[in-house]
Amino acid sequence: MKVGVPTEIKKDEYRVALTPSGVRELTAAGHEVIVQQGAGEGSAISDADYVAQGAQIVPDADAVFAGADLVVKVKEPQAVEIAKLREGQTLFTYLHLAPDPEQTQGLVASGATCVAYETVEDRLGRLPLLAPMSEIAGKIATQAGAFMLEKPLGGRGLLLGGVPGVAAGRVMVIGGGVVGQNAASIALGMGAEVYIFDMSIDRLRELEHTLNHQASTCYATTLDIEQRLPEVDLVIGAVLVRGQKAPHVVTREQLALMKPGAVLVDVSIDQGGCFETSRPTTHTNPTYEVDGITHYCVANMPGAVPITATYALTNATMPYVIKLASLGVHEALRADPGFMLGLNVAAGKVTYAPVARDQGLEYTDPAEALSLVPTAA
Ligand SMILES: NC(=O)c1ccc[n+]([C@@H]2O[C@H](COP(=O)([O-])OP(=O)(O)OC[C@H]3O[C@@H](n4cnc5c(N)ncnc54)[C@H](O)[C@@H]3O)[C@@H](O)[C@H]2O)c1
Repeated sequence: MKVGVPTEIKKDEYRVALTPSGVRELTAAGHEVIVQQGAGEGSAISDADYVAQGAQIVPDADAVFAGADLVVKVKEPQAVEIAKLREGQTLFTYLHLAPDPEQTQGLVASGATCVAYETVEDRLGRLPLLAPMSEIAGKIATQAGAFMLEKPLGGRGLLLGGVPGVAAGRVMVIGGGVVGQNAASIALGMGAEVYIFDMSIDRLRELEHTLNHQASTCYATTLDIEQRLPEVDLVIGAVLVRGQKAPHVVTREQLALMKPGAVLVDVSIDQGGCFETSRPTTHTNPTYEVDGITHYCVANMPGAVPITATYALTNATMPYVIKLASLGVHEALRADPGFMLGLNVAAGKVTYAPVARDQGLEYTDPAEALSLVPTAA
């Protein structure tokens, strides 16, 4: 199979979907790999590094999309990329379709087979291709939040960890999954006082242990969140309801309860945002203010640390890329029910139920839609 790797074109995105190790594995298994010139530069990987492992460098994205049977990317395809997709081609990348009807329509119309990293599950029902980026985003969330609390950046002017004789800041993390746990552990490491909210008691039990009883675990009800908001300096939103648009856990009205200059970091922004007042921002312009509260809503947070993020991502995606290349999309997905859950669009149909539900579209069973895709793909 011919595997293609385009340069990421989303603003401030420096990751790349395949490293030279991935090229080596694929070429050793008899596949061809085409990489767009300069695709790895943002992650400090040169064209020569790819060529040394057997890849062919092509001049532009057109050549990648025209030549590849399987296109592997990092971020969701942008409009100009969707226009290059075709029937019989497989796209494997983050999609986050639920809050994005335009992209969904584009992928449906393309006829391509689209497998989303973020909805693939492992045998234990975890999200193996979301987890490494969530670990990174959780850590960045606290770092960024701490920075934005500085006065010159519009923050309250408070050092999150405090100093001897001066109390530490308070951090509220809503959503205690992978992002939430990592955000909390960095906040604890900085010396902050941490409250972590979730709706799963089992998860709160686990967090008690993994965070070594250093954070207060709290059941996430509207009233409990409302009562804590006036006390905290930084709120990190990290909820996820699989594949769906994020629920709003802080409303605009509730911003009035917070201290002026407090900071909200919405990591769930890629699923539409979990604060009512959130809208996506970029690393170049990461924040805006609503009612005196700083909002940080960067949709591709790990893109800021590509040297870490590219390797963390590809360590997780590589076995799946190899399966797709070696078995073909039909057999690879049929052999692994968790991988089949990654299928979001095939043969012009939406095959992931939460996306169809959120957008009022017809849902088609993934195996049924896959049977309509030509087997050569
Ligand atoms: N912005 C970025 O760059 C970036 C990077 C990585 C991940 N993310 C996003 O971060 C979000 C969290 O990812 P994750 O890997 O931690 O997910 P996860 O599934 O590990 O954790 C989500 C947690 O949210 C909890 N939850 C769900 N609804 C809730 C509610 N109403 N109140 C409180 N808790 C609730 C769940 O019980 C779960 O523990 C996802 O939307 C993911 O796409 C964003």
